[in-house]
Formats: sequence, C-alpha cells, structure tokens
Amino acid sequence: MNKQELIDILSDNSRIEWLFKEADRVRKENVGDEVHLRGLIEFSNICKRQCKYCGLQSGNKEIERYRILKDEILLYAQKAVKMGYRTIVLQSGEDEYYDTDKMVEIIREIKKYDVALTLSIGEKTYDEYKAFKEAGADRYLLRIETTDKELYKNMHPHASFENRVQCLYDLKSLGFETGSGCLVGLPNQTIESLADDILFFKELDADMIGIGPFIPHEQTPLKDAEQGDFWLALKVMALTRINLPNINIPATTAMETLNPNGRIIALQSGANVVMPNVTSKEYRAKYEIYPGKICINENPEQCRGCIEGKIKAIGRTISLEKGFRNRG
Ligand code: SAM
Ligand code: FES
Repeated sequence: MNKQELIDILSDNSRIEWLFKEADRVRKENVGDEVHLRGLIEFSNICKRQCKYCGLQSGNKEIERYRILKDEILLYAQKAVKMGYRTIVLQSGEDEYYDTDKMVEIIREIKKYDVALTLSIGEKTYDEYKAFKEAGADRYLLRIETTDKELYKNMHPHASFENRVQCLYDLKSLGFETGSGCLVGLPNQTIESLADDILFFKELDADMIGIGPFIPHEQTPLKDAEQGDFWLALKVMALTRINLPNINIPATTAMETLNPNGRIIALQSGANVVMPNVTSKEYRAKYEIYPGKICINENPEQCRGCIEGKIKAIGRTISLEKGFRNRG
C-alpha cells in the first residue's frame, strides 16, 4: 500500500471489520495458526534515558529500582525453558552496569539451553551489537517509537533520531532478526506519521514489529496527556501485517492493559506472538513502563497456563519451534 492508501484506511472507521478480517486472513496464509510464545525477562528497570512517556526514565525518582544479576537471570531462563519456551527475551532500561563483557557472558550461558535469544536493551554501538551477535544472540528489538522527526526529538531529550535508525540498520546488517515498532497515540502524533511508520517498517524489512498504545504514566512529563486509542493501535498493527505478511507480530501487553481481551483480539487481527513474563512477582510491578500493566500479581506458571488456555480457546496452537521469521 502507498501512503495515501494507508492514511485512507487509518482514518476510515467503516472499514474496520474488513481490515481486521483481512489481516487475520493474511496472517493465516503466511504464518499459519501457530502462536509463538516468548519468555520475557525484565532484568533491570534502571535507565539512563529520558523518554518523556516512559515510567523507567531517569528523571523518575519515585520508582524503586532493581537489577537482576547474571546468576538469577540464568535461573529465570532455565525455568522458562522447563516451562516449554523456545525463545528467551532479555529486556531492560539502558543500564550501563551491563557492559559488553557482562552481556556477552549472559548471552553465551543462555545459548547453551538450545533456545533462541532476543535482546531488547536499547541503543548500543555497532561493535557492541557485533559482540552480542558473535556471542549467539539471534534477535534484537528496538522500536523506532515514531518516524516523525520533530515528535521524536520532542519525546526523547538528548537523543538522536538518526542514531536510532542507524542502530536498526546496524542490527540488520549484522544478521540479527530485527524488530521495531511504534507507540500509537503520542501527543501531537498524526495519522500521516503512523502511515510513515508502516512504510518505514517495510523499508527496513523488519522481521518483527510490536505496536502498542501509549499509556500515560503519573511520574512522567506526559502524565496529563491523553491515552492512546486501542482500536487505532490495532489498525496500525493490522496494516503492518497486510504490508509485511510473513513477519512476527506480538499481541502486546499494552493492548491488554487497555482492553481486557486485547491480546486475543490482536491475535485475531494479524498478530502471531505473545510474550508472557517469566520473572517472579517481586519484580513485575517495579518494571512499570506504564500504569495498569497486566499480570503483576501472577507467577510465571499462571501466565503460561492462562495464555495457553486463551490461545487454544480460539482454535490456535502453541508453537514448539523457535519461531524465526517464516521466509517460506
Ligand atoms: N530500553 C529498551 C528500548 O528503549 O528499546 C527496551 C525497554 S523500553 C521500556 C520498551 C518499550 O516500552 C519502548 O520501546 C516503548 O515503546 C514502550 N513504552 C514505554 N513507555 C510506554 C508507555 N507510557 N506506554 C506504552 N508503551 C510504552
Ligand atoms: Fe499472565 Fe494471563 S498471561 S495472567
């Protein structure tokens, strides 16, 4: 689709049913009925950046910070493997404690468990990404957040849009399965820029795209901003499926925060991945990117059982594979 077609569909609510059905059909035809589960370990909520929308930003002095060290990360990874996860996702704020050597050690250890490993730890140099790849990391998630340069600058003090784009192309060139995505509903974001976001995913040839609605956090500069719209986020996700048919698309946790059935609706509108949390309760509430995060009182076993039940109830199956992009 070209930009105008994307804008037309994003602004037209009368075609919403067609859009979700079409995205579901494209999903089924290209990646099938299997849902890939990724075990998510949120290992540090310490962050040096100041993203205006994020509860982890360094300016938030009220949040209780934590850092899970290597041995405990490995315990969570082992537990995830025992529960049947074939991919581990390591996510954190930009926490300088985990330098290249520490990350490489963790990556090497986790890769001994015969799992795919995804990192989501922010902007690093080419050489750092290279070291992670050589240590065995398979995938990397780095959302562009928005392709509107002005909005990007406004949302990310002291950060560079060009560097974020460069990071994504570095990851691609190093052979990572590269994930990106955007926030939907940031203040002053336009429909035109959301169309540009989808065109950017296509241009990058992203392997994974995560789309989530923006949810204002009380302890951030955007505390009084309006929350993103669940249905608009779902439309952006559905259009991403239609335009990048064979990639992996998660039903995001933020969607379920805004709609109690959000992840299932997303799985029926183009998504084929879910990322349940595999850390224990003591950390879940503290990784508060936005308020109202789901599953903060559940343990890893409950989440696994809960989401499996929901997925099977809509006639889909849980994949037993590592779930790389289906290049057919
Ligand atoms: N630090 C890494 C990075 O920047 O890529 C990974 C962790 S970061 C907390 C993960 C994602 O959370 C971001 O890419 C952003 O899209 C999302 N996020 C942050 N604040 C949010 C909010 N208020 N509402 C919804 N999503 C949010
Ligand atoms: Fe955590 Fe449902 S996935 S309780």
